[in-house]
Amino acid sequence: MNVAKRMDLLGSETAFAVSAEAAKLAETGMKIYPFHLGDINLPTPISVINGAEEAIRSGKTGYCPAPGIPELRIALAKDVGDSRGIKYGIENVSIQPGGKPSIGKYIAAMMEKGDVVLYPNPGYPIYESQIEFYEGIAHPYGYLDNSSGLELDFSAIEKGIKKGAKHIFYNNYNNPTGASSSEEEMAKLADLVIKNDMFLISDDAYFDTLFEGTPRSIASLPGMKERTLTMYTFSKKFAMTGWRLGGAIGPSKIIDQITRLNVNMESCTTHFIQYGGIAGLEASKKETQDILDKLRVRRDMLVKTMNGIEGVEAHSPEAGFYVFPKITKLMERTGFGDVEEFRKAVLNDTGVSFCGRHHFGRPLDNESDSYIRLAFSGIGKDDLKEGMGLFQNWIEARAK
Ligand SMILES: Cc1ncc(COP(=O)(O)O)c(C=O)c1O
Repeated sequence: MNVAKRMDLLGSETAFAVSAEAAKLAETGMKIYPFHLGDINLPTPISVINGAEEAIRSGKTGYCPAPGIPELRIALAKDVGDSRGIKYGIENVSIQPGGKPSIGKYIAAMMEKGDVVLYPNPGYPIYESQIEFYEGIAHPYGYLDNSSGLELDFSAIEKGIKKGAKHIFYNNYNNPTGASSSEEEMAKLADLVIKNDMFLISDDAYFDTLFEGTPRSIASLPGMKERTLTMYTFSKKFAMTGWRLGGAIGPSKIIDQITRLNVNMESCTTHFIQYGGIAGLEASKKETQDILDKLRVRRDMLVKTMNGIEGVEAHSPEAGFYVFPKITKLMERTGFGDVEEFRKAVLNDTGVSFCGRHHFGRPLDNESDSYIRLAFSGIGKDDLKEGMGLFQNWIEARAK
């Protein structure tokens, strides 16, 4: 039996491959320091657990409506609307098994074959994978690394627009780079989207993991609510990566099409899990604040250690789970020409496991610097310290 040709077009989330590689090493008895995956090793808040448990015990175990249970759709419309200063109703929400499914479902429902779609690269690799799987033209845009942080490369965005791009994926706050848009940058992007009659998919996976201040969404800007589909996930804010709960929020015309795909793909998102989601949205902020406080300590330790290594430059991310250090000079110091070789050598010698820039979309022609991505969500501070110590020693032993 032959595998369908279209499967050649499908990409993957290669961070999972790094995870598998590390797991194999762990089987040999080696201690692994997991900086590779945006998973989270903190417990799901108790209110969420209680909400789901009560639901499973009270028989919420059958099918439920394809767009999600009305109570959760209403609660999510209110939560996402209130936090972005806009108004959504039940008709604007389709519940999903996680944040990720909205990517492929939007593409399947709204993109014609041959449409140009802009997407961040480095970025979450599933955008590129799904655009190409459905035979769109994936047009990447990257970031410019300035002393103050990373900025969107508008010249690449404008190039895509000139080619006729009608859709753009935007991930603020960004995985893997940790980049976040200033108010001006966001306004400039919204302006381009409106002027060129485009539609924007705002991947808000890390909207609620901002360490200080109030998060900003492009959907809040004038004229953008009608042009934005927000990808919401419970995974990161509520430490629920394995529960699989999220939602697509946006114009009902698109939501209805996404729900038609729900019927075809999974019928509905797991019934009782949705009650856990409601409980999370209703719980006190303290439970999620505890998660953020722990993550902030890890972020600060990691950024400080990274910047203490000669040849490494790391920005401190305002939100999210990731540090994305530039290691161009470190590669020279340690005699490596290829990040993948460097990554493998560190993993095999020390057990410190992280990803390279190449795990987040095909590298662009104009890139001359080398980057790695370290997630601080899946490793406690003691192991973080120990792992970073091993990394530093390894470097000093190899440095020229
Ligand atoms: C930017 C981004 N979007 C989407 C997702 C997927 O989220 P979920 O696990 O809820 O499907 C992730 C997960 O790491 C992510 O980093």
